[in-house]
Amino acid sequence: MFKTRITEMLGIEYPIIQGGMQWLSKAELASAVSEAGGLGLITAASFPDPAELRDEIQKARSLTKKPFGVNVSMLPVLMEGDTTKRYIEVIVEEKIPVVETSGRNPEPLVPALKEGGVRLIHKVPAVRFARKAESVGADAVTIVGFECGGHPGMDDVTSMILIPRAAESVNIPVIAGGGIADARGFVAALSLGAEAVVMGTRFLATKECPAHANFKEWLVEAQETDTMMIERSIRNAVRVMKNETARKVLEMEDQGATLDELIVYISGKVGQQAWLSGDLDGATIACGQNVGLIHEVLTVKELIDSIVTGARETVSRLTRIVQAG
Ligand SMILES: Cc1cc2nc3c(=O)[nH]c(=O)nc-3n(C[C@H](O)[C@H](O)[C@H](O)COP(=O)(O)O)c2cc1C
Repeated sequence: MFKTRITEMLGIEYPIIQGGMQWLSKAELASAVSEAGGLGLITAASFPDPAELRDEIQKARSLTKKPFGVNVSMLPVLMEGDTTKRYIEVIVEEKIPVVETSGRNPEPLVPALKEGGVRLIHKVPAVRFARKAESVGADAVTIVGFECGGHPGMDDVTSMILIPRAAESVNIPVIAGGGIADARGFVAALSLGAEAVVMGTRFLATKECPAHANFKEWLVEAQETDTMMIERSIRNAVRVMKNETARKVLEMEDQGATLDELIVYISGKVGQQAWLSGDLDGATIACGQNVGLIHEVLTVKELIDSIVTGARETVSRLTRIVQAG
């Protein structure tokens, strides 16, 4: 039913990708997404030791025979030393078919990925970076809008504008992210020129996501107004849950705090503890505005099936509207 350059390139049934999510998109979640017909991604940054990433890849392989990928985020706060290079070695050795990179120009990784036969999807928050990704050899580009959970860049441009702008600016396929949580957003993204969608926030409220139940309850209750932007002052803008730690960070930024002063609150380690313990105020927690569209915790299969079925209904509704005119 769905055929795009992305489904063809990756050998997947539905053009639905689960974005990398540090500490959360591990074997269980990623394999469930792939098993349901999409593409799951294991986030390398959840495994400071690349040997642990290899173990996780092998675990996912025991859970699904379908293709899955690995996210390699290159934000300075996440990566140290030659860890990225060592992740890529593991990915190539394990014959992972596709990598999602983010955070900075992936050019240095391109030769090793090409040689290893690994497809490269680079995730960006602006059209100029999409063009750059294409010019350095990315096979596809993901564009994320201002409403997304995680890092939407510094330009504050929403998905509604960025998706068609990216689609008209590059020749490689465009994947759309930021604000998509259900069939309506999925169909909208395809109609704007995307050939697949990437979702992060919506996958948090699935049974297979290892986040503590407190977070899942919060996601179901929260409204589209319950996120906020922080870390602009250090040019690492990130959309997070409105909570005590996020408010504290913003206050410190307003008072001119440095990265060294902020790191105690924004480091990944603090986030990991909060996700596991269920402390909703304990860390800055990435979350998109589409949290307002989450009304229940589903299994990954139920979620993907609902998007596929809902897409058919949405397209029929649109066809009726167009024919009536
Ligand atoms: C909790 C959470 C953690 C995330 N961690 C990462 C990450 O480690 N690396 C990355 O490239 N993107 C990360 N993202 C971004 C997602 O992969 C995806 O691009 C984004 O969530 C899409 O927007 P949406 O939240 O509106 O669906 C994260 C998002 C969330 C919600």
